Amino acid sequence: AEDGYDLWLRYHPLSAAQKADLPSSVYAEEGDATLRVAADEVTRALAAIRGEPVVRTSGAAPRAILLGTANTPRVAALKLPLASLGEEGYLLRTATVHGQPTTVIAANRPVGVLYGAFALIRRMQLGQPLSGLDIVDRPRVKLRILNHWDNLDRSVERGYSGQSIWDWWRLPDAKDPRYIDYARANASVGINGTVLNNVNAKAESLTAPYLAKAAAVADMLRPYGIKVYLSARFSAPIELGGLKTADPLDPAVRAWWKAKADEIYRTIPDFGGFLVKANSEGQPGPRDYHRTHADGANALAAAVAPHGGIVMWRAFVYAETDPEDRAKQAYTEFKPVDGKFADNVLVQVKNGAIDFQPREPFHPLFGAMPKTPMMVEFQITKEYLGFSTHLVYLGSLFAETLNADTFAKGRGSTVAKVVDGSLDGHRLSGIAGVANIGNDRNWSGSVFDQANWYAFGRFAWNPGADPQAIAAEWAGLTFTPDPAFVRPVTQMMMRSRQAAVDYMTPLGLAHLMATGHHYGPGPWVSDLSRPEWNPTYYHRAGADGIGFDRTRTGSNAVAQYAAPVARRFADPDKTGEDLLLWFHHLSWDRRMADGSTLWDTLVRRYDRGVASVDAMRGQWDALRPFVGSERWQHTASFLGVQAREARWWRDASIAYFQSVSRRPLPPGTAAPP
Ligand code: GCU
Repeated sequence: AEDGYDLWLRYHPLSAAQKADLPSSVYAEEGDATLRVAADEVTRALAAIRGEPVVRTSGAAPRAILLGTANTPRVAALKLPLASLGEEGYLLRTATVHGQPTTVIAANRPVGVLYGAFALIRRMQLGQPLSGLDIVDRPRVKLRILNHWDNLDRSVERGYSGQSIWDWWRLPDAKDPRYIDYARANASVGINGTVLNNVNAKAESLTAPYLAKAAAVADMLRPYGIKVYLSARFSAPIELGGLKTADPLDPAVRAWWKAKADEIYRTIPDFGGFLVKANSEGQPGPRDYHRTHADGANALAAAVAPHGGIVMWRAFVYAETDPEDRAKQAYTEFKPVDGKFADNVLVQVKNGAIDFQPREPFHPLFGAMPKTPMMVEFQITKEYLGFSTHLVYLGSLFAETLNADTFAKGRGSTVAKVVDGSLDGHRLSGIAGVANIGNDRNWSGSVFDQANWYAFGRFAWNPGADPQAIAAEWAGLTFTPDPAFVRPVTQMMMRSRQAAVDYMTPLGLAHLMATGHHYGPGPWVSDLSRPEWNPTYYHRAGADGIGFDRTRTGSNAVAQYAAPVARRFADPDKTGEDLLLWFHHLSWDRRMADGSTLWDTLVRRYDRGVASVDAMRGQWDALRPFVGSERWQHTASFLGVQAREARWWRDASIAYFQSVSRRPLPPGTAAPP
């Protein structure tokens, strides 16, 4: 449909020439639920793409797709090298079966076959040839998880695409078929877990009625290889159990968590585990009892361990106790407990040390806790990037963090290698994305925000992925594979994140958004009760200059990075323009590499951001012939909003900073009204 509901799973007829050598039948043994959905999906896609019915066969057929595991006799007979595929990998190969050329999708487990099926469908949708296939692929990261910040009343914290898709009131009996489409979309990009409820969790989500609801969702997602997880409120033993304490070392508290876990696993036998936000932004946690984060995580981990469950313990902590530099607090609290976590605990770290800003340096905890599996948490929903109205492709942001070199074990110790577990040899590894999914017809609020969900899944599968290739792939699937469309739209997407950085927080500035909702500029705000909530705390602009000194003469946050990184960030000549004011407080008149002053450069960056959005608008206008009217219009109107709001950001920010810098605007830049 033209309304975006189908996401990137739009199975459109190809031209006669393109579909000439597509298979015409699907062979699968269908005892297993996952194999069945894999065969169903391939059949559905193939039928739509060929524009003709597809034969489901259990015998030899010409031009067939054969799906199965080593337990499928016809697949086993091919003696394929399945060993290297692991639990979730797959193999796509052109083989001869009963003298017929056959496209084989094989894996060790049914879920691998499902991933292979979606990979094959992608090829077909993009009009890529299926002949001579020989492809092997497997995920580099084990846990690829969406975090829904969805409340039980269906409001979504930081959600910009309607209400929660989880209809808690009507569950468990009313099983919205949309959950199946949700599962298909996630499985198609390899997402294998979902945390159903907000990290700011209500204890109620762990009561029997809610567990029954979660179980109903889990039943629907299971065939798609997706496990259900829940956010747990640390004080639940008090709220639900009537205990006087939630002290993680108290035997009664531990017994409570154990009994609760046993109850959960009776309801959801393959429950994934808990996600916990503790001692952050007012949430209860182990530090309320003078215990460490490890003590807290381990209490819950012990409860789920007998069932094979895990705990994802968030490192997003900050409190008034450390007003000096909020960016330092997580490292200060977590680094000392490296090695103290149970082996079914992962520490989940936001990509940067503050909070999902348009640009942040990678979080200093990456590489700093070699004994602990470290997950990266990205925000797919764009809390600080213009919600679902502004077009900002996050693939470039994901790649920037994942490619960053921590130097923890010398050159090449990228965040990606920390996260996929290869740097330190961890068995567990994971990536989390805060979902941008709601009950809007188009799921994500805008068509281009679907790309961020898609890209998250693809990066979770392969943290070394190329953001541009993913953008092109998404655009080809979502609209049309015609290169005359894909090339410019990919360009548009690839410039979009830098555009937002430029018109919101250029040169390493951060956290300048308006209070509370974080939409629009508010760099002048300085009167919030907690110092580290104020934009002025972050930009520190004064008559002398602008920026946050995180070197030795300031908070010395640079010292939390490995020596080679710390040296680079400590030197304003080596930090690079992108992160300059994140680490340095510099004079307005400081000369930049090209000889202009810092002030002039700042103003020019704001202007550049506006110009980029205008250019994106122009590109989208030119692409009208390729895009159905509904999605074209919707996107065009949002780009109009973005163009206006980029100016709002620029003009308000420059007006404010100029009131502090007291310098004239450089020639040729747009003067604020
Ligand atoms: C941000 C966001 C909150 C969220 C928090 C978190 O601060 O604004 O809504 O709860 O991150 O990640 O826990």
